[in-house]
Amino acid sequence: MDLGAKLRDRHVFVTGASSGLGMHFARLAAGCGALVTVGARRRERLDALVGELDALGAAEARAVDLDVTQAASVEAALAEAGRAAPLDVLVNNAGISEARPALDISEALFDGVLATNLKGVWLASTAAARTWREAGRGGTIVNVASILAFRVAGAVPAYAASKAGVVQLTSALALEWARYGIRVNALAPGYIATEMNADFFGTPAGEALVKRIPMRRLGEPSDLDGAFLLLATDASRWMTGTCVTVDGGHLSSSL
Ligand SMILES: NC(=O)c1ccc[n+]([C@@H]2O[C@H](COP(=O)([O-])OP(=O)(O)OC[C@H]3O[C@@H](n4cnc5c(N)ncnc54)[C@H](OP(=O)(O)O)[C@@H]3O)[C@@H](O)[C@H]2O)c1
Repeated sequence: MDLGAKLRDRHVFVTGASSGLGMHFARLAAGCGALVTVGARRRERLDALVGELDALGAAEARAVDLDVTQAASVEAALAEAGRAAPLDVLVNNAGISEARPALDISEALFDGVLATNLKGVWLASTAAARTWREAGRGGTIVNVASILAFRVAGAVPAYAASKAGVVQLTSALALEWARYGIRVNALAPGYIATEMNADFFGTPAGEALVKRIPMRRLGEPSDLDGAFLLLATDASRWMTGTCVTVDGGHLSSSL
């Protein structure tokens, strides 16, 4: 089965596409011939990416301003994308991490992590689902969770709680929206070096962490491609409310 071919001419909206995994998912979808809309706050990065997506073979590529913590911004971004072509796939990828122990986290920082990682998923998902329901068409949502939804590490308590929330929200929305033909699944990556964490992997603690991954290496963004394409296409047509882990075995590491 050619999973990539299933994305051809589908309209895929990726949040947080100005770097890291979101940028990778946008490139992957473009290479499959999808229409790709990318959203984030750093518009100049998105504009540069759009040219690249065109060259990769996107049926169409566009950038929209997006702050996932703000309902008005989310609604405007999805409406702008939808005016160009009806949306088929929403990838809730935008996320931030705090990298601080619990006692050093301010209320504002805690709120920011939860607003981006959890409320942002809810805002974008409900905005898309409303449009799909009104149009009488289904849709597909892929939420980017994390293995920290299932186990914990030091100095990321708000992040871990937010990602556990994403996994549970995925199930709750899947339950409510299956009747509208809307599927909601999550992808839980293990550690992959991106702007979010690259500094950490140069430290002794980071190197020690990699040794605890059963497959003894960090992930590459492309290690997520199979699971991403599965969840984003009708290859997963009877899957909803699930979370697929891709982590080199990290969740199975010895206690
Ligand atoms: N890298 C890993 O090891 C790993 C593992 C598991 C899960 N994840 C998850 O994967 C996702 C992507 O992370 P990454 O590693 O690629 O990190 P990254 O390189 O730091 O990218 C994060 C992206 O989120 C966007 N973003 C942050 N706040 C936003 C907001 N308020 N509104 C819109 N966009 C926002 C950023 O864009 P702007 O700053 O331009 O807005 C950026 O494009 C996150 O959900 C993360 O939790 C990553």
